[in-house]
Amino acid sequence: MQDRLKRMQAEGIAEIAQAPDTRALDDIRVALLGRKGALTEILRGLGTAPPDQRPAIGKAANAVKKALEEAIDARKTVLETQVARREARETAVDMSLPGRRPMRGHMHLVPQVAEEILGIFLELGFQAATGPDVETEYYNFDSLNTPPDHPARDLHDTFFVKPGVVLRSHTSPVQMRVMEKHAPPVAVVVPGRVYRNDYDASHSPMFYQIEGLLVDKGVSFADLKGTLLLFIHRFFGPDTEMRFRPHFFPFTEPSAEVDISCSVCKGEGCRLCKNTGWLEILGCGMVHPVVFGYAGYDCETYTGYAFGLGIDRIAMLRHAIDNIHHLYENDLRFLEQF
Ligand code: PHE
Repeated sequence: MQDRLKRMQAEGIAEIAQAPDTRALDDIRVALLGRKGALTEILRGLGTAPPDQRPAIGKAANAVKKALEEAIDARKTVLETQVARREARETAVDMSLPGRRPMRGHMHLVPQVAEEILGIFLELGFQAATGPDVETEYYNFDSLNTPPDHPARDLHDTFFVKPGVVLRSHTSPVQMRVMEKHAPPVAVVVPGRVYRNDYDASHSPMFYQIEGLLVDKGVSFADLKGTLLLFIHRFFGPDTEMRFRPHFFPFTEPSAEVDISCSVCKGEGCRLCKNTGWLEILGCGMVHPVVFGYAGYDCETYTGYAFGLGIDRIAMLRHAIDNIHHLYENDLRFLEQF
C-alpha cells in the first residue's frame, strides 16, 4: 500500500504540473482527493492491512494528501497569475496611441468676414454702432427721404410687423439713429441683420449688411472713393480694381454702386461675374440734404458719405460660394471649411 501511495503521489504531482487551466486542475483534484478519488480508493483497502501497519499507512496517506494539496495550490497560483497577466495585457491602455480629438467649434463664416471688414474701418477711426432689427417705418424709410408713396419702397420687399413697424430692410436707419444722438463729426460702421421678402440662390429673407457713415466739414465724394479703395485693396488684395456706377438711392445724392474686378477671372469674364468681369459689392453716395434735415444737421456746414455692403455677398465672392443658403443651413460639412 505504501508503494501505491508513493506512486500515486508521484503521478499526481506530474499531472498537476501539466494542468493547462484551473478547470482541468479542479478535475484532477476531484480524481485524486475526491470522495470517489484514488486516495479514498486506496484507504478503503486499509481494513485488509495488518493492524500494526495501519497507523503508518494512515500517516503516509495523510502526507500524500498534504503533498498533493500543496502541489494543487501552487499550480493554481501559477495558473491564476497567468490569467491575470493575460487580462492585464489585453485590456491595457496603449499610452502611445494618438488621442481622440474633441470636436471644436469656430466662428461662423459670416461673423468672421464681418469682423475682418469692421477691423479695417475701426483702424481708420470709425466707431462701431448698432440699431434694432425691428424698426419703425420712420427710421427705415421716411427719415431716409423715402416717403410712403416713394417708388423706391417697392424695391425692398419689406416685412411688416404691424402698421408703422417693419423688420428693417437695410442698416441705413441706424444712420439716422446715430445722427440724432451725436453732433457731427461722426464716423460709424454698423453691422447687422436685415430682412427682405426675397428667396433664391443669391437672396435670403435674412442677411447681413455693414453700413458706413461719415459726416464732417468738407467731406467730398473723393473721400468716399479713397476710403472704399483702401478698404477694397485691404480686403480683396492690392491688385483689385474698383469702379463706380451711377445709381439711385433716395437717401444719397449723388449715389453709386461699386464693383470690383472679378476675383475669379481677374476681369476676363467667367460664371461668377456673369461674363462682365465685375462684381457688385456695395451701394453708396453723399448723404442727401433732406436726410441731414431729419437729423437736425446743418447741410450748409456739413457734408458726408454713406455706404452699405452685403456681408453674405462678400463672403460668397471671396470663397466662390454659389448659394447664399449654404451659409444658413448649418451643414457642418460646409461650415467646417472656413
Ligand atoms: N441701404 C442701401 C441698400 O440696402 C445701401 C446704401 C447704404 C446705399 C448707404 C447708399 C448709402 O441697398
